[in-house]
Amino acid sequence: MKLLLLGSGGREHALAWKIAQSPKIEKLYIAPGNAGTRNVGENVAIKADDFEAIKTFVIENGINMVVVGPEDPLVKGVYNFFKEDEALKDIPVIGPSRTGAVLEGSKEFAKEFMMRHNIPTAAYKSITAENLEEGLAFLETLEAPYVLKADGLCAGKGVLILPTLEEAKKELKEMLNGMFGGASATVVIEEFLSGIECSVFVLTDGKNYKILPEAKDYKRIGEGDKGLNTGGMGSISPVPFADKEWMQKVEDRIIRPTVEGLATEGIDYKGFIFFGLINVKGNPMVIEYNVRMGDPETESVMLRIKSDLVELFEGVAAGNLNEKTLEIDERAAVCVMLVSGGYPEAYDKGYAISGLDEVKDSIVFHAGTAVKDDQVVTSGGRVIAVSSYGANKEEALAQSFANAQKINFDKKYFRSDIGFDL
Ligand code: AMP
Ligand code: GLY
Repeated sequence: MKLLLLGSGGREHALAWKIAQSPKIEKLYIAPGNAGTRNVGENVAIKADDFEAIKTFVIENGINMVVVGPEDPLVKGVYNFFKEDEALKDIPVIGPSRTGAVLEGSKEFAKEFMMRHNIPTAAYKSITAENLEEGLAFLETLEAPYVLKADGLCAGKGVLILPTLEEAKKELKEMLNGMFGGASATVVIEEFLSGIECSVFVLTDGKNYKILPEAKDYKRIGEGDKGLNTGGMGSISPVPFADKEWMQKVEDRIIRPTVEGLATEGIDYKGFIFFGLINVKGNPMVIEYNVRMGDPETESVMLRIKSDLVELFEGVAAGNLNEKTLEIDERAAVCVMLVSGGYPEAYDKGYAISGLDEVKDSIVFHAGTAVKDDQVVTSGGRVIAVSSYGANKEEALAQSFANAQKINFDKKYFRSDIGFDL
């Protein structure tokens, strides 16, 4: 099979690494990829949301399957683009339809969907400039801190958590006034939930589903979960509190109702669903849906999938995922992210990365890297994910931290407390 993977981050390198291990793969292309993905496949200089260029490439190269890494092409409708094109309609796209992607593309839609299907989530109210007064009144009924979410996609920046009622009221007005452009023309106000978060992933063919290994990511830049939010500084899998009993609650209360809800609403969904959950006194509740894998969760989750991922994708495409097996590695897997100093605020790019060849017994996934004159250089805030196995998370983390020391670039920073809270 010739497979085209869309995307360019650490998530995509981890997916490409796993896909390339499949004996079914004759050729793997990554568009646009990064300096790491070229080691497991062939990079193609096409943007992940340039559908016309993707079409030409797919036809000229006889591509048999397309796997979508990031949310952007999904929300823009890459699945529908293929389905509605005479020349592309028989080529499976692993990822939901445009309507399915709205689960991530609109917080308001996701909340309404959860309400319709009795899926546990925080109480909320959806506000626009028209019903601002209702929003201000709703805030008065809540307790601090206050959660405000821009309805639309904001590259992970659209959620504000505010300590006082005054700030919440002020920020609500600013959001409605275009703080995030059109994305915050509607704001979802939510009750604050207190607990530890956990990311749960399924692969679904729209009817059947397989639950992949869960993971926890570490979003804040500073140790002890202090400082600004980032795209993710590391991840671990499994998550100790996500035991059999807890995962059974997740499946019964959240996963099955979601997959059944999508089917009964006639929403075409063949791909990953990412449940951003929070454990509230032993009960899982949904913080958010994403319609793709998590980053940096994928950089630990892929290590724990023993089965052939491409065969699972074939089950997704054919609608017989129930006939496929998913075998999971019992070992722990972790990832530690090396980032550019200054991130998530201003940082420089283009620093040479050395020591990659000295890494032993870890897997290096590139996130923000590029090649310049045959040299691998930094090209993003999150630069390299160092992933490792271990009999337990402590052992896996020790391995990743040791290798994180061997890789160098100017202003390198990483958190050395990943997993500290579990
Ligand atoms: P989201 O973009 O929806 O994942 O929100 C970003 C982060 O904000 C989440 O990972 C949580 O840490 C936090 N968050 C979002 N909604 C809530 C909530 N209702 N209660 C507590 N924390 C929340
Ligand atoms: N790790 C969270 C995300 O991918 O959105």
